[in-house]
Formats: sequence, C-alpha cells, structure tokens
Amino acid sequence: MSKTQSLQFVRHPHPAPLAADKRAELLKNPGFGRVFSDHMATVRYSDSQGWHDARIEPRAPIPMDPAAAVLHYAQEIFEGLKAYRTEDGGATLFRPEENARRFQQSAERLAMPILPEKVFLDAVDQLVDIDRAWIPEGDGSLYIRPFMFANEIFLGVKPSSDYLFIVIASSVGAYFKTSAPAVSVWVSQDYTRAAPGGTGAAKCGGNYAASLLAQAEATRHGCDQVVFLDAVEKRWVEELGGMNVFFVFDDGSMVTPPLGGTILPGITRSSLITLAKDKGIPVREEPYSIQQWKADAASGRLREAFACGTAAVVTPIGTVRSPDGEFTIGNGGSGARTEELKATLVGIQRGRVADKYGWIHKVF
Ligand code: PLP
Ligand code: COI
Repeated sequence: MSKTQSLQFVRHPHPAPLAADKRAELLKNPGFGRVFSDHMATVRYSDSQGWHDARIEPRAPIPMDPAAAVLHYAQEIFEGLKAYRTEDGGATLFRPEENARRFQQSAERLAMPILPEKVFLDAVDQLVDIDRAWIPEGDGSLYIRPFMFANEIFLGVKPSSDYLFIVIASSVGAYFKTSAPAVSVWVSQDYTRAAPGGTGAAKCGGNYAASLLAQAEATRHGCDQVVFLDAVEKRWVEELGGMNVFFVFDDGSMVTPPLGGTILPGITRSSLITLAKDKGIPVREEPYSIQQWKADAASGRLREAFACGTAAVVTPIGTVRSPDGEFTIGNGGSGARTEELKATLVGIQRGRVADKYGWIHKVF
C-alpha cells in the first residue's frame, strides 16, 4: 500500500450512543475537556503498510502494551481545533488545513511519519459529521483533538515503526473558569518551556509535560496561566503555557513575539496578525522583554495585552505577577482593541462576519 494515499474511512456507528436527554444535560455547562462525544476516528501506520485501517468507531479505551514506545520516550504530537454550529444547522471548522500542516511539521520534528493532509481533514470532517449533535448551542463549540503516538512494542530508543492516529471530540465552553474581566499571569523565573534547537515549535505532549510544574506554580500564586521567558537570556517574553501573547500600545500598534523555533506558531496568532493589518493596525513581530512590559505598563505606553489560541480564543491579560511583585495593564480588565479583534475573529469563526479570507471550512 502506498504511504501517501487518501483513505476510505469505514464507519462503525456506536450501537448505543448516549441518550439525547443525557447529552443535553452534559452540554448545558460542559466546561473544558471533560465531556466527550460518542465516536473517534482512528488510522494506523506501520513502516511496512503505511497509513491504513481508517475507521470511525465508538470512542473507547485503547488497548496498549506496557512496552508501547510512547509510554517510555513520549513520541507523541497533537492538534486542537474547534467545530462551530452555524445558524442553518450546519457545522464549520476554522482553518483546519493549517492544523493539518502544523501536524505534519510536528511529526517531522518528532521523527514521525507524515499524515497526508487529506486524511487529517477527512478524519476531522467525518467525526464532526457523525457527532454533530455534540456541538453545543450558543457560545460553546466542539473541540477536536487529533493526536498521534508511537505504538511499537520496543524499548530501544529510536523512531517507532508503528503509530496510531486518533481524533476525539469534546463539547466545550470557555477555557478559563474565572469570571474576572481579564486573566492574571505568572512569570516563571525558574523554568523555561523550550530552548533553541528544541521542540518549542512542535505541538508535542512533552512540551506540556515540561510546563506543568511552572503552571502549578502560577496556580499557587493565584494566576490563571504561566508566562515563559526565553531559555537563553531569561528576558524575552515567549508565550503562555497554552497560548500566544499580544501587546497593544498607546500609538495603536501591536507587538507579538517572533516565531523563532521556540514558540508555537499559533493559527489564532497568525489570523489576528492578518485581521489587524487589514484594519490598518501596525503589527510588529519582535522581541519584547519582561522589563519593558513592566515599564510600559507603568508609563501607560502599554494599553492592553491579551492571550490567544484555539482554547483561549482572545483573552485579556490584566495582571502580571512574579517573585519581584506585580503590575497591572491598563485598568486591569479588557481593552477596546482586544475586544474589537476578538469580535472580528469570533464573528468570522461563527459565520456572523463575512469570511473574505477563505478560512471557513464547511463540514456539512
Ligand atoms: N501556544 C501554545 C503553547 C499552545 O498550546 C497553543 C494552543 O494550541 C497556542 C500557542 C495557540 O495556537 P492556536 O492558535 O493554533 O490554537
Ligand atoms: C489549544 O488551544 O488547542 C491548546 O492545545 C491549548 C491547551 C491549553 C488546551
């Protein structure tokens, strides 16, 4: 079998999907990442057969050998994107091709096989189609989690010869539980997320494992998210544990840290850069130091800051805390520019604002 074919997904519908009334109960207040749909997409890979055995099947535990390579050397990558319910009862995805491409780049960095873009997109489309009833009404969405892991039963340290690609879906509301108008962030001084030459630009599970202690420290200090500084000078703001960051200045311009291999090239980040530029807002992708952040917040040159990502959407940052003390941005809440960009982005994602970029992918 060729390694680049597009595959036919065989459907094995769930014999007993969750009853509609129970599902409706779960969808009332799903939170983030705890409510799962009835099905999953699975595709297998082996060096000898290439990609094969594509299925849509009931979501269920996966039998694993304790010697499966991922359990030892963490050869795993994932993606995150959302399906939205449209007013006419259909479902759409936001720039899923970008997720498919980033998945390929992550695979390359982790020495994994490259999943054809079409197989990635078909798996997502088919899962959203069969589990369409799990897309919440209103502000909620169906968070799609494609992932792939090394499944060879072998303890030698080398790229695995077998992989499993799976897509699951989770009905979600807002990522942050806080009802505050903006989130607070903790600047990690002891831990960094990624070093030059490392895996910072890949969406691999290991990056998140390495971030957990810093995130726990942030939580202990009453903060919603951790901010990572660069690993070399411990000076330049890189990104948050699970989102990119933007700064808005009094002259109307914006700054976001440049993609240099140590931060995740966010699809929300790139979309916001495009939207801002089209609105005539100058956006600079340039290094911004933690000292400058503090000084600009104090002088009032910095008006707003926000986090962005698939899960976070656009979330204002109000307070920055570190062992040296804390400072507030603007009035500590959201700002006009943050709200304007969020409204345009969410408007396009939900079909309320014309999509002149071709970002919306219709599922059905
Ligand atoms: N940075 C990190 C570390 C992330 O986990 C995410 C979320 O996927 C992002 C940035 C934002 O990326 P995207 O906008 O593609 O969701
Ligand atoms: C996403 O936004 O998709 C992520 O993977 C980030 C994580 C905080 C859920």
